[in-house]
Amino acid sequence: MQLSNRLGTLTKYVPQGSRVIDVGTDHAYVPIYLMKNNITISCMATDINKGPLIKAKQNITKYHIPNIKLKQTSGLQGITEEDGNVIMISGMGGYLIIDILKAAMSVVKAANRLILQPQQDIDEVRKFLHANHFKIITEDFAKDDNKYYTILVVEKGEEVYSKTYEYVYGKCLIEKKLPLFKEWLIKKQDKLEEIKKHLNENQGVQAEERVKELEAEITEIREVIACLN
Ligand SMILES: C[S@@+](CC[C@H](N)C(=O)[O-])C[C@H]1O[C@@H](n2cnc3c(N)ncnc32)[C@H](O)[C@@H]1O
Repeated sequence: MQLSNRLGTLTKYVPQGSRVIDVGTDHAYVPIYLMKNNITISCMATDINKGPLIKAKQNITKYHIPNIKLKQTSGLQGITEEDGNVIMISGMGGYLIIDILKAAMSVVKAANRLILQPQQDIDEVRKFLHANHFKIITEDFAKDDNKYYTILVVEKGEEVYSKTYEYVYGKCLIEKKLPLFKEWLIKKQDKLEEIKKHLNENQGVQAEERVKELEAEITEIREVIACLN
């Protein structure tokens, strides 16, 4: 089975022989892939909705991987540390990921690793992790259908970033200097420049304020791009 670049990148960070809890599994492609390739010794796939779990069950049957446990639950409710030692939460908003982690801190703290892929508000997730005694051991970046995704690999530990932009863009990603990450930054910079140009052409008092914010954002993004050269 062929995973998308995003899902494939998530699986790269699952340690051999681990036991994964995939929260919000939807199709269960990740647990199926992990079990089929003997990367994990067990998988628990959860989802809040019944529909995805029906789909997950069909895929588990289709790929002949019967030993994936399925559970309908919100986040990590009803999950214990016996269910796994690696927690994966992908394809959800950053604030939802934070809420899921907050609501089950004892299970989260017992895990060896968290693999998180927030769709938005990634800076808030990074800040939450640091404030709750986790460190980001690495980050990765993936692209599917012209969309870009950030993957955070997290373990227990103490860490603080000194610069705001390290929370916004990811200190590990900046240090890794990935060409794909640079591609995304340049596209983002071009998009911000375009919005600024449009606002300048339709100048009003409110637009003036927004133009200033955009200029600050563009300056910051330029600094980050310069770090990658
Ligand atoms: C966009 S899909 C992502 C699926 C998969 N994790 C991925 O990365 O491709 C989000 C899934 O999370 C489930 N979900 C949303 N809120 C949830 C919650 N609080 N607890 C568990 N699952 C949730 C949805 O039902 C949906 O199946």
